[in-house]
Amino acid sequence: MSGPRVFVTRRLPGNALERLAAVTDLDCWQGDANPPHGELIERARHAEGIVPIIGDPIDAGLVEACERLRVVAGVGVGYDHVDVAALTRAGIPFSNTPGVLTEATADLAFALLLAVARRLVEARAVVLEGQWKAWDPSFLLGKELAGSTIGIVGVGRIGEAMARRARGFGMEVLGWSRSARELDGVSFVSLPELLERSEFVSLHVALTPETHHLIGVDELAAMRSDAVLINTARGQVVDQSALYAALRDGVIAGAGLDVAEVEPMPMDDPLLELANCLVLPHVASATVATRSAMANLAVDNLLAGLRGEPLPNCVNPEVYGPR
Ligand code: 8YV
Repeated sequence: MSGPRVFVTRRLPGNALERLAAVTDLDCWQGDANPPHGELIERARHAEGIVPIIGDPIDAGLVEACERLRVVAGVGVGYDHVDVAALTRAGIPFSNTPGVLTEATADLAFALLLAVARRLVEARAVVLEGQWKAWDPSFLLGKELAGSTIGIVGVGRIGEAMARRARGFGMEVLGWSRSARELDGVSFVSLPELLERSEFVSLHVALTPETHHLIGVDELAAMRSDAVLINTARGQVVDQSALYAALRDGVIAGAGLDVAEVEPMPMDDPLLELANCLVLPHVASATVATRSAMANLAVDNLLAGLRGEPLPNCVNPEVYGPR
């Protein structure tokens, strides 16, 4: 099909690519990993629109090299891989996919919390290794959710969905947000108070220079020794070496991570040796419905931009000038 050239950096689920192919000159990277940076620039250079995903650095160099570029529509709500300021300087609108992945991400965060609290991975290993010998009153005891306290760091859309789930399980919910907020059933407290009081701490902040290593040695030391840390946000929000030491030394009790400072997490990462740490491969939004909705929302944004219309989920509306 002819039409504006579009580069999509990965095959997308659902009918998003068909929709694009019907009205654009579609170039879709067929690899199973992000295109190497040189290849990304080479393919993007010819495009009027790009659909990147996490791990594709949309940086100032790429923006400079892409003279024909008119719109960038990312798949995902987080956009720490995108130099939005560079796009804004070039007058290029950029969109993300907020809203559609909220429930799936909160589901996975809660699944991690339950799995670590009730030691599901260890329990499964016991069965598979033939160690299920007898019912034992003291065997594989975990943490009870009802009556416990969870601290939600970053009460945005996903944090709020997490709070709803926690309340459903009879938990007391503390929240911390950078901007002052009020929300039924959530007691907003300072970050130090949240860390000190919570038996579960779940991270839901975007990665920014301010949230990089928000949870480090001092914050882990401030947490309860029976606390569990859940991270479905970005790996860099936690100082991972500090987390490893804290889990190894019993400073905190456990962690459930869907994200890592380096993704994919290298197989020799010491966190993978710890029984009290469950690591998943960044799958929080991975449901059929959500991934398809994310892809379609990115396509909606891209096509709006190619038509010269404002992007429905524009992150840098300043490119449209004063209203
Ligand atoms: C996505 C995510 O799978 O939306 C986000 O910010 O981390 C994930 O849900 C990923 O970003 C796809 O690009």
